[in-house]
Amino acid sequence: MTPKLLENPLRVGLRQDKVPEPQILVIFGATGDLTQRKLVPAIYEMHLERRLPPELTIVGVARRDWSDDYFREHLRQGVEEFGGGIQAEEVWNTFAQGLFFAPGNIDDPQFYQTLRDRLASLDELRGTRGNRTFYLSVAPRFFGEAAKQLGAAGMLADPAKTRLVVEKPFGRDLSSAQVLNAILQNVCRESQIYRIDHYLGKETVQNLLVFRFANAIFEPLWNRQYIDHVQITVAETVGLEGRAGYYETAGALRDMVQNHLMQLFSLTAMEPPNSLGADGIRNEKVKVVQATRLADIEDLSLSAVRGQYTAGWMNGRQVPAYRDEEGADPQSFTPTYVAMKLMVDNWRWQGVPFYLRTGKRMPKKVTEIAIQFKTVPHLMFQSATQKVNSPNVLVLRIQPNEGVSLRFEVKTPGSSQRTRSVDMDFRYDTAFGSPTQEAYSRLLVDCMLGDQTLFTRADEVEASWRVVTPLLETWDDPRQAAGISFYEAGTWEPAEAEQLINRDGRRWRRL
Ligand code: BG6
Repeated sequence: MTPKLLENPLRVGLRQDKVPEPQILVIFGATGDLTQRKLVPAIYEMHLERRLPPELTIVGVARRDWSDDYFREHLRQGVEEFGGGIQAEEVWNTFAQGLFFAPGNIDDPQFYQTLRDRLASLDELRGTRGNRTFYLSVAPRFFGEAAKQLGAAGMLADPAKTRLVVEKPFGRDLSSAQVLNAILQNVCRESQIYRIDHYLGKETVQNLLVFRFANAIFEPLWNRQYIDHVQITVAETVGLEGRAGYYETAGALRDMVQNHLMQLFSLTAMEPPNSLGADGIRNEKVKVVQATRLADIEDLSLSAVRGQYTAGWMNGRQVPAYRDEEGADPQSFTPTYVAMKLMVDNWRWQGVPFYLRTGKRMPKKVTEIAIQFKTVPHLMFQSATQKVNSPNVLVLRIQPNEGVSLRFEVKTPGSSQRTRSVDMDFRYDTAFGSPTQEAYSRLLVDCMLGDQTLFTRADEVEASWRVVTPLLETWDDPRQAAGISFYEAGTWEPAEAEQLINRDGRRWRRL
């Protein structure tokens, strides 16, 4: 299906065409992977497209004693290897002149004085007018310390000129998230805080809003009367990827569910917002998450299942068990898979389960939201392939093969009255031809523009921790470790996760 491309007012409203004010982006933890692989390649791409002010200056902060030149070379390699390449030598040279490195310790008050002076002199040199975005891309345990120090050095004092970006995970549970929120709100205003969840920067995740609220035909069906249940899947083929130090303390519930999956869930389940402004959307997301709970709080095994991958085969290659990955504890009970069933206590969704699942080392990389509608009330036809008619399913494919498909029944050719399911499919690549924008580009520009719509607000992050708290309390308890299930790398979920949904007379989608 090739859609006719009409300019949609809501779509236009969601695009950022403005160029941010000249400013300095200060990245804490700048020697880490994120800066080299994602942030700077995304920024350079936008620089090539002239979507950033030419004065934009980046200051990398980390403990290592790198020079500006070494930092520039390191970032250049990142752009070549992980981004779209340098493309024009003179453009890179101009860009590189705005890259600087400031070695220092995150907990050293003296360092912040030095940094403040350096930023002031860069303002003179580069014309950045005191505008600053501080990006905390450090280990989560340092978020609070960095914020306190920036606050103490007076570097967040001007709410109109300074912003603080905080990577995920935001806290380890509800109470640590509350503590971190209190620290941040003590040194700056909520309007200065940008809690990043890169899923919100994905084009197709934003399209969820357009799809739901710019089309009149879906919204009337988007409720308990017509929808049987919803399945949200984020399956990954990757394993630990050398991140044992972090992952062993996080696991799939903290790494994926509390943030990325809950974002997909809240955008699917929220009420229409009054406006597209940051608070319009975020108010509705918070409301729905606050109305959400695990299906059965008394018996958590009816609400969620956790799993960990064992050795297996992926694309003809043997891969080790999680416990044998470099840096992982050989006795580890860290979950790499989570499935859970959520219920929403409000008028729209009463009685409609939302099944969420995510896992590493699954057979395929797929992120999708599948809305399964109820079957017809009275069946008059016979299906050519099954005993009963298949229900309609609307699938929003977030990645890869970004697009939307709708499954419905048609009559099979011939004289019989048999039916068969077919899919009507919309694909981003065939319709628009160009690759979708890197999530970080979108988020970085929004933040520099001061637009908080795609960032998680304090109450939202706390509400989503609250939903998973009963699971954290049980799963973190070493006495409950035996409750974990195992699945072979390269296969779909453990049997217990099948039961979680089969018990309700439903099945996970085969992807
Ligand atoms: C990150 C998680 O936030 O998201 C990773 O820490 C995960 O474990 C990644 O692999 C998935 O992101 P994407 O964009 O590849 O779906």
